[in-house]
Amino acid sequence: MSGLFITFEGVEGAGKTTVLKYIADQMELSGYEVITTREPGGIEIAEKIREIILDTKHTAMDGRTEALLYAAARRQHLVERVIPALEAGKIVLCDRFIDSSLAYQGYARGIGVDEVFQINQFAIEDRMPDLTILFELDPQVGLERIHDNQSREQNRLDLEKLDFHQKVYEAYKHLKTRFPERITAIDANQDLSHVKQVCEKTIKGFLK
Ligand code: TMP
Repeated sequence: MSGLFITFEGVEGAGKTTVLKYIADQMELSGYEVITTREPGGIEIAEKIREIILDTKHTAMDGRTEALLYAAARRQHLVERVIPALEAGKIVLCDRFIDSSLAYQGYARGIGVDEVFQINQFAIEDRMPDLTILFELDPQVGLERIHDNQSREQNRLDLEKLDFHQKVYEAYKHLKTRFPERITAIDANQDLSHVKQVCEKTIKGFLK
């Protein structure tokens, strides 16, 4: 497999989706073949699973059911979209991947990071990202940003209290120390143009 699998992670409202699009454009201008995608979703089956998971009516969803649905969506997306692109030598930029499950379900929901890692291992069979960019931002700031953005969908996880999002943030900090060779953190408190530059520099440095 000769492509490169790069994932973007962080709390809500950290700017990763916007920066991901910018990076894709820059890399295409530099001559790389790039695909952009997201989790949960990216392909029809996984987008349908996304609708089930994030439906604001589904407040009865059990934490383990939630973790399994994310892992199921991940499996299908990996097999159908990510791996074929990597085999074709492309760079895959993916908005969220396994670290989201470890942080949100494993840590913030309290299921256990190792337990959630295990069910994800079944789904991904060792296909971890080559590089993960972690957008570090106080979740309170992130939630204020998304509150101000009327065009963004409100999903079931957005309805969680600040305390839940604080745990997600803490979890990402742990993950950064657990996978230091894979995860690079960038300060998402800076203004967006600065974050874009730092992210581009990090990825280009990695490519070299
Ligand atoms: P998005 O808003 O970044 O598209 O992500 C959808 C929501 O799903 C977001 O609140 C993070 C959450 N999520 C998890 O809880 N676990 C996961 O494994 C993934 C991929 C996302």
